[in-house]
Amino acid sequence: MKLLLSTLPVTQIDTECLVVLVLDGNDATSANKQALPLLQTSDPAVQAVAQDLVAMNEITGKAFETILLHKPAGLRARRLLFLGGGKLKNFSVHELRKAAGAAVRFLKGKNLKSFTLLPPDASQTPDAVRAIVEGAVVADFDPDYYRSDRKDLKMDAMSVVVPASSDQGALAAAVEEGRIIAESQNFTRDLVNEPGNRMTPTMMGDRAAAMCKEVGLKCEVHGPDKIKDLKMGAFWSVAQGSDEEPRLIVMRYEPAAAPASPVIGLVGKGITFDSGGISIKPSDGMEKMKYDMAGGAAMIGAMRAIALLKPNVRVIGIVCASENLPSGKAQKPGDVQIAMNGKSIEIINTDAEGRLVLADGLCYARELGATHLVDAATLTGACVVALGHINAGVFANDDAYYEAFAAALQNSGEKFWRLPVDAEYTEMIHSDIADIKNTGGRWGGAVTAAMFLKEFVEDKPWLHLDIAGAAWIEDSKAWIAKGPSGIAVRSIIELVRNAAAGGVK
Ligand code: BES
Ligand code: MN
Ligand code: ZN
Repeated sequence: MKLLLSTLPVTQIDTECLVVLVLDGNDATSANKQALPLLQTSDPAVQAVAQDLVAMNEITGKAFETILLHKPAGLRARRLLFLGGGKLKNFSVHELRKAAGAAVRFLKGKNLKSFTLLPPDASQTPDAVRAIVEGAVVADFDPDYYRSDRKDLKMDAMSVVVPASSDQGALAAAVEEGRIIAESQNFTRDLVNEPGNRMTPTMMGDRAAAMCKEVGLKCEVHGPDKIKDLKMGAFWSVAQGSDEEPRLIVMRYEPAAAPASPVIGLVGKGITFDSGGISIKPSDGMEKMKYDMAGGAAMIGAMRAIALLKPNVRVIGIVCASENLPSGKAQKPGDVQIAMNGKSIEIINTDAEGRLVLADGLCYARELGATHLVDAATLTGACVVALGHINAGVFANDDAYYEAFAAALQNSGEKFWRLPVDAEYTEMIHSDIADIKNTGGRWGGAVTAAMFLKEFVEDKPWLHLDIAGAAWIEDSKAWIAKGPSGIAVRSIIELVRNAAAGGVK
């Protein structure tokens, strides 16, 4: 999609469609419960066109409401779309990001190829422009590759109206940043969208290596020999059950001028298909387990953006890619495995495989010099039970590091909710015959999984992102297609940029 800025007066803009936001001015306290639509422009020509619609209560400002007019009087635009942005009191750049996405998806449905978005007068800043670009590019992604009736409607161009008096250089930089971030999120969605037969660990490694080459990142992709050499007994125990070879993907971003510390270690779960192994899952819904590599894919997408945005901080990305299958070579409940740091693990359930591959990935990130860790994984059904599909879970063993992530969320607009890291849960993963066991029983499954991972981070500040519920969108939304969401990519990028600005100690 071409992304342009326009400084023309509204009436002069020649476009397929001019999009104007309308907010709902009612709040709980206002006495007047009648619709109070607030047109987000001071342009008299647009106000004149809206007048009747407002008088007839046809515009309310309700989120994602769409009213499309043709040949609006007094404007050069061929169409005018009034787009609801929701309640004024809830409006922020995050609502604006979604509104831009909703405009793209609505107009694509009308076969339009280009449009101009007029942001609210108060939202014509670099942050707002960046959010608009992110929303539009994310909305332009449709994952229905394998349908022969795929329409593959792509938006050719979006212009964003900004004041002629503003700093055009800063706005252009914001457009470029937004594009990099959203295209990286889409890169992740692309990987996650592929089914297991088209995204084996080998293919995931190849895709990561190709991306790294393109953006100038160092990348090594290792196979079974290296995994065994490194004594990654936990990772290997999952991989051993499949005929597909595992891959240990290592991506490095090491700008010459960056300080020695911090070094951010990103570790992703890359289970390209999770059948459960010998503790096999019910067949109902098992096909969804092709997205069990979404955490790993998020790290690959984040590394892409980091390479292009060039923050001044060192980052290492590690993805442990494997299938989890039952076979005559597969590990069995009761087996004992030794992880890279020497800890022994009793396998209670072979379906708790994500924590096994991450255990060794976290150890390896530390060995490569990471001072701060982040892992992302579709780790537990329990996290989905706790938070549903709206919020993902975040766990942290260090409050200051968590605060840096919370600040990242302010910029990314992604929803994560903090869950506890608490030593009292550790007894739930005590084993009678090994140091720990790989499941903690029925209750608090997202927490006991986190406590298991904590055994492998030692003293390092660490964030664990359980994205099991948020990585796949079941039903299309106004602003995003159903399918892989690309959750965590934007927040990790923001965290790394925070770290470059001295926000991670
Ligand atoms: N990949 C699953 C978790 C998952 C569940 C992801 C639903 C996305 C949607 C993970 O490997 C798993 O199977 N976890 C088990 C752990 C249990 C055996 C302790 C689970 O959550 O049931
Ligand atoms: Mn599993
Ligand atoms: Zn899994």
